[in-house]
Amino acid sequence: MTTVPSSDIILQFSDVALGYGDFTVLSGISIEARKGQVVALMGGSGSGKTTLLRAATAQIIAQRGRVSAFGKDISQVSGEALRQLRQRMGVLFQQGALFTDLNVFENVAFPLREHTRISEAQIQERVLEKLDAVGLKAAAHLRISEISGGMARRVALARAIVLEPELILYDEPFAGLDPISLGITARLIRSLTDKLGCASVLITHDVKESFAIADQVYMVGQGKMIAAGTPASLSETQDPFVRQFLDGQPDGPIAFHYPVTPAFSQWLENRKGRRS
Ligand SMILES: Nc1ncnc2c1ncn2[C@@H]1O[C@H](COP(=O)(O)OP(=O)(O)O)[C@@H](O)[C@H]1O
Ligand SMILES: [Mg+2]
Repeated sequence: MTTVPSSDIILQFSDVALGYGDFTVLSGISIEARKGQVVALMGGSGSGKTTLLRAATAQIIAQRGRVSAFGKDISQVSGEALRQLRQRMGVLFQQGALFTDLNVFENVAFPLREHTRISEAQIQERVLEKLDAVGLKAAAHLRISEISGGMARRVALARAIVLEPELILYDEPFAGLDPISLGITARLIRSLTDKLGCASVLITHDVKESFAIADQVYMVGQGKMIAAGTPASLSETQDPFVRQFLDGQPDGPIAFHYPVTPAFSQWLENRKGRRS
């Protein structure tokens, strides 16, 4: 076994429980993302993937356990220190909304204008470099209405990396993309991680693309961690939950049918009463 320098651990969840108010979405969650790694967090719709991302950025605080970013317990950080911590993170939200009244260049320049005092020449250099990294340098002058959905996703990606974060969090970056744009985006996430030497946390339910680029995969469901490991080790698992997810089967331990509740039965009874 090789030992990892602790400074290489960028994000760490240790036996964490997360939720909203009294409601716990996930518990017993331990996750680690290191420098240079792509880590995929997978799970079905509503399993708590976005909730994990909110915990990583301290938008919500763990009900139990500890979430650390860059070696700091984020529940202990607030105000200016939290702002600085977040500045080391790039986030690509599920609806990575671009400013439609700004062109491509200005969308990517926005975080630089907000958070730095670098010169206009430095802004231009940095923005064109990041647009080049996503293959869209020559689209810098275009309006958002003039680019395709796949291109818009890449512009959002360039904007997320323009401050050169040490941790990038992607919430479903493949959603709504055609298979070609999807493959391009996945390879971009891998190459940007390698080039920037950052850690990337990728939230997705796309098995094929995420297994192709991830170093580590964590799978959540039914309120807990279902599986964790390398793509190769998970591909070989016989665990029925994991197999059902990987193979996309409707029948298996994860029920397709929403469970019948007394409230449903009562509702159905009342309807029958109405019809007679
Ligand atoms: N702001 C919120 N307040 C209360 N419950 C929420 C909130 N956001 C999400 N939830 C609930 O938490 C669960 C997990 O949601 P989410 O993390 O968005 O799932 P995913 O991203 O995996 O689809 C769902 O049951 C959802 O209804
Ligand atoms: Mg989500």
